[in-house]
Amino acid sequence: MTQKLHLKAPGNWINDPNGFIYYKGQYHLFYQYFPFEPRWGKMHWGHAVSDDLVTWEHKGVALFPSKYPDQDGCFSGSSIEHDGKMFLFYTGVHYTEIDPDNIHACVQDRFESSQMMITSDDGMKFDNLNDKKVIMYPIMDKKLGDATHTRDPKVWRGKDAWYMVLGTTSEERNGKLLFFKSHNLYDWTYANQVSREGYGWMWECPDYFKVNDRDVLIFSPMGIMKDEGIEENQAVCTLVDFDEETCHMEIPDTYQFIDYGFDLYAPQSTVDEEGRRVMIAWLRMPQAVDGKWNGMFCFPRIVEVEDGHIYFRIHPNVKNKFTKKISSMQDIEEECYYLSMDMEEGDWLNVGGYQITYADHKIQTDRSEVFAGFEDRCSQFASPEINGSAHLDIYVGKNIVEVYINDGEYVISNVVYGIRNDIIASSRQDDVNIYVAE
Ligand code: FRU
Repeated sequence: MTQKLHLKAPGNWINDPNGFIYYKGQYHLFYQYFPFEPRWGKMHWGHAVSDDLVTWEHKGVALFPSKYPDQDGCFSGSSIEHDGKMFLFYTGVHYTEIDPDNIHACVQDRFESSQMMITSDDGMKFDNLNDKKVIMYPIMDKKLGDATHTRDPKVWRGKDAWYMVLGTTSEERNGKLLFFKSHNLYDWTYANQVSREGYGWMWECPDYFKVNDRDVLIFSPMGIMKDEGIEENQAVCTLVDFDEETCHMEIPDTYQFIDYGFDLYAPQSTVDEEGRRVMIAWLRMPQAVDGKWNGMFCFPRIVEVEDGHIYFRIHPNVKNKFTKKISSMQDIEEECYYLSMDMEEGDWLNVGGYQITYADHKIQTDRSEVFAGFEDRCSQFASPEINGSAHLDIYVGKNIVEVYINDGEYVISNVVYGIRNDIIASSRQDDVNIYVAE
C-alpha cells in the first residue's frame, strides 16, 4: 500500500513513530500499531519505507509480541545502523494482571517493562523468534527507576560509546531520564539520571541530539497540563547541557511546545540523507476516519536552533512538491494543498472551515467548525506572542491542518474532520497563494 505526503494508519490503529532511520539509501519509519481494530491494543511495530519522505510504502508488521517479556506489547523505541545491520531497541511489556474482559489491557497499570533489541541484516526481515534479546530486565531498584513506567529507549552513537536514554518516573512521581552506555550494543551500563519537578510525572519518548552545536532534548511529559486527562500529555523541547563523559544533563525550567496545536505527541528524530536533523510525530485523533483508521503523522520537520530558539521547519522534500499554483478552490481535488500568505495584526483566513487569525500579537486558530462532536477537547489554539508581520505556510489535508509560522518559529497542527474544499476567504484575499503537489 502506497501513501503520498501524510503518512496515515494503513488501517486500524497507529500511534508513536518508532525506529526512524535513513538506512541503506531508504527511510524506514516504524510505528506503534494495533492491526486488529482502530483502537489501542497490544502493540506491534508497523513498518513503512520511503525514498524521499514524501511517498511511503507500508510493509506490514515488523515486530510483534513473541517472548515472555514482550508478550503484551512491543512499545516504542529507536534504531541505529552498525556494521551494516539495523538494530531496533524497544520496550517489551508484560502484563502481571490481564484485564479478563479485554486481554489487550491490564488491570490498574499492572505491567512490567523490559528493554529489548532485535537486529536485522537488511531492515526488511525481522525474525521475532530468533533475533530478539532482552538487554534490561524490569528495574526493581526504586532509586533508579520504575519496574512499570520505564520505556522508549533512544540510542545514539557518541564519541567513544553508544548511549541510551530511557524515560521513567522518580519515587516522588516526577518525570525522569536514565542514561546508559555500551561498547557493543548488547551490554549496557547505568551512567546517570536526571529528574525535574514541574514537568509532569512520567517522561515518554525522550530524544536527545546535537544541532547547530546545541544540545536539544525532546520529550513527551505525561501530566504537564492540568486538564484531567483530555490533553494533559504534551510534547516539549528544550536546550540542555549534556556531558557525554558523565551523562550529566542540565535541564532548564523553560521549554517550548513542539507544536502549539496540542494533538501532536511522541515525536522522534533521526538524521536525514543530507545530514539534517529531521523529526516526525503522531497526531492524536479522537475518532477513526470512516470507522476504519485512526492515527497519522505530521510532515517531517527539520529541527534547527537559532538564537536560542528551536525551529521546526517543514522538510524541503515536502515543501518542494507543492509547485502547481492554482487560482481558485474549484481546482482542488487533491488530498492536500498548500497556502502561503503574510498576516498583520487583525488579518484572518478561513480555509475549509478552519479559522486562522492574527490577534493579540499571536497567531490563533479555531477548528470548532471542522471538529464538531468533540467539544470536550480544545478547539482554539494560539502561538506565543510574535512581533510584526507573520509569514504563514499552511498545509491543508483532509484530516490535518499544519500552520508553520515564520518558517517554523512556531507550528500549530490540528486534526480536523470534514474540512471543506469550497471556501478560502481572507482579509487579504488577493495575497493568498494556493499550490497543489505535482
Ligand atoms: C507514547 C506511548 C509510549 C509507549 C507507547 C505505547 O504515546 O505511551 O510511551 O511506548 O506509546 O503504545
